[in-house]
Amino acid sequence: MSLLKIGVIPGDGVGPEVTEVGLGILEKVAKRDGLVYELHPFDLGGERFLRTGEVLPQADQDRLRACDVILLGAVGHPGVPPGVLEKGILLKLRFDFHQYINLRPVRLFPGAPCPVTGKGPDDIDMVVVRENNEDLYVGAGGFTYKGTPEEVAIQTSINTRPGVERCIRYAFDAARGRAARGAFKGLSEADKAGGYTRQVTLVAKTNVLTFAHDLWMRAFNEVAADYPDVKPGYMHVDACCMRMVTNPEWFDVIVTTNMFGDIITDLGAVLQGGMGLAASGNLNPTKTAPSMFEPVHGSAPDIAGKGIANPLAAILSTAMMLDHVGATPSADRIRRAVARVLAAGAPKTPDLGGKASTVEVGNAVRDALD
Ligand code: NAD
Ligand code: IPM
Ligand code: MN
Repeated sequence: MSLLKIGVIPGDGVGPEVTEVGLGILEKVAKRDGLVYELHPFDLGGERFLRTGEVLPQADQDRLRACDVILLGAVGHPGVPPGVLEKGILLKLRFDFHQYINLRPVRLFPGAPCPVTGKGPDDIDMVVVRENNEDLYVGAGGFTYKGTPEEVAIQTSINTRPGVERCIRYAFDAARGRAARGAFKGLSEADKAGGYTRQVTLVAKTNVLTFAHDLWMRAFNEVAADYPDVKPGYMHVDACCMRMVTNPEWFDVIVTTNMFGDIITDLGAVLQGGMGLAASGNLNPTKTAPSMFEPVHGSAPDIAGKGIANPLAAILSTAMMLDHVGATPSADRIRRAVARVLAAGAPKTPDLGGKASTVEVGNAVRDALD
């Protein structure tokens, strides 16, 4: 493989702590598998903003664009007003680099604590395909009479037919990709007899958002017709929250809007053992700009600086980065090592009920690499 240029944004809070551990794992796997890469670190986040007033200068963004992929820890700082860093760095990169898919696997590893009694790794193995460039996240809207008793705030959800359709198509392709693992166990005998091997569920709110989600529903039905082997399903987002807990085995691929995807993937994180385990990729499938990989969790100011953040989400995000660049055997090697550490039951950080540090867990994963 040719030289891979990796932009690294450790960011705020626990971001640098978990990113460093993720990079340690990458180093060992790369040596083992002959991957050549160079790291390009970026000082972006709360500290820089407080020091210089800069959020994401154009020069940094240009240098990021020149990277093949980006690894991000987390942004968000208690001393900076909400939104400045989140919108100014994270969302700006997701939008400007056309990372229109946010891929968020929800998979329970054996040994990871699942809060749902009676559900195990066989029941929790889904992926959320979150639309990542539209909806309420575009920042359309504003205030009228701001600061007066009559104040009105408007925040508009933008949903374009091409934006929605490419996301839905990605979800159906992802379902086909998962067919290699065998048929989805949530299908009935009649479904299988009908030729279905996998399933995509649209999660929306068509009963209330009768413009935006009508568009989603129509686009979904049209795309589904191109995939006779994939069973299309629909669920309202509120019911989905309930079913993800009571019947997680019903889900294979979920496709959903930016806002709903944000919310249900924190729920998904808990299903797979907590925020410390949930990985994600902000993908530009056309590769016209770098994709960006990051844990689902934030900067966790409540535990930052203590050296106890769980690094597994960052490690698994690094594996997703390797998937994206075609180094799937290396990515699988990382996932196997994480699985071994979780199956062994120790070491564990406090969020999983243990007493180990971030670095100790990272070392254990490194030692467990085959
Ligand atoms: P959070 O995900 O940072 O924390 C929620 C809870 O999960 C906290 O109790 C935290 O201690 C725990 N947690 C998170 N990551 C953990 C880990 N690796 N190991 C163990 N426990 C972990 O969410 P929040 O508190 O709502 O947000 C904090 C800041 O992060 C805010 O500024 C927010 O805007 C920002 N944020 C950033 C991102 C991102 O950069 N991708 C994502 C979410 C939130
Ligand atoms: C996430 C985060 C971000 C989002 C915030 C920090 C902008 O919550 O990645 O899930 O809402 O997408
Ligand atoms: Mn979120």
